Amino acid sequence: MLTLPDGVSHWPGFFNNSAQNELLHLIRKATQQAPLFVPKMPRTGKPMSVRMTNMGALGWVTDQKNGYRYQQMHPETGANWPTMPPMLLDLWAEKSGCELPPEACLVNYYQDDAKMGMHQDRDEAEFDAPVLSVSLGNACLFRVGGEKRGGKTTSFRLDSGDVMMLSGPARLAFHGVDKIYPDTSDLLKDGGRINLTMRRVTKMAGQSQEV
Ligand code: SIN
Ligand code: MN
Repeated sequence: MLTLPDGVSHWPGFFNNSAQNELLHLIRKATQQAPLFVPKMPRTGKPMSVRMTNMGALGWVTDQKNGYRYQQMHPETGANWPTMPPMLLDLWAEKSGCELPPEACLVNYYQDDAKMGMHQDRDEAEFDAPVLSVSLGNACLFRVGGEKRGGKTTSFRLDSGDVMMLSGPARLAFHGVDKIYPDTSDLLKDGGRINLTMRRVTKMAGQSQEV
């Protein structure tokens, strides 16, 4: 049995097939309102291989000029982000240990040849709240390390319907997606993978956390 680093939780198959289809339907509706965009690296402007959008009050965006940030508006349409579906708010309430709801849900779409380099999620002002993730579609090889780049890492597979959380000692862990395994799910008709990550962005002043 693979031992995950402290603070990394994994619930394989948390969402069954019908719940996955329901989530997919909600995500498709959200992308009609807030189309997927191509995120660009700060300074270099190099496009990332994933396509992104967001749900919730705030969304994570990045471009050459202004870099990584959260904002209330879609970078191309200028509209507010669609709301987060109750299914995801319920998941957060069940798993996060936070009294306050998530403010952002980043939607990443990976084609089968996309990947994501090792990085920390550190654009939030609140690290007491976890990052809670849902995977849909083809499986991926997910890699997680420690708080310093270049240290020992652990790799494991995330399948469609899996829920994963980085909290406490793993909240600032470096993580990334090394590859997508094509043809491992028939949820998405054109293949690929969708990952949702829910976060708190602003400080939870005065709010106690459950222990
Ligand atoms: C991310 O770190 O934003 C995405 C992780 C994943 O796709 O599982
Ligand atoms: Mn991340």
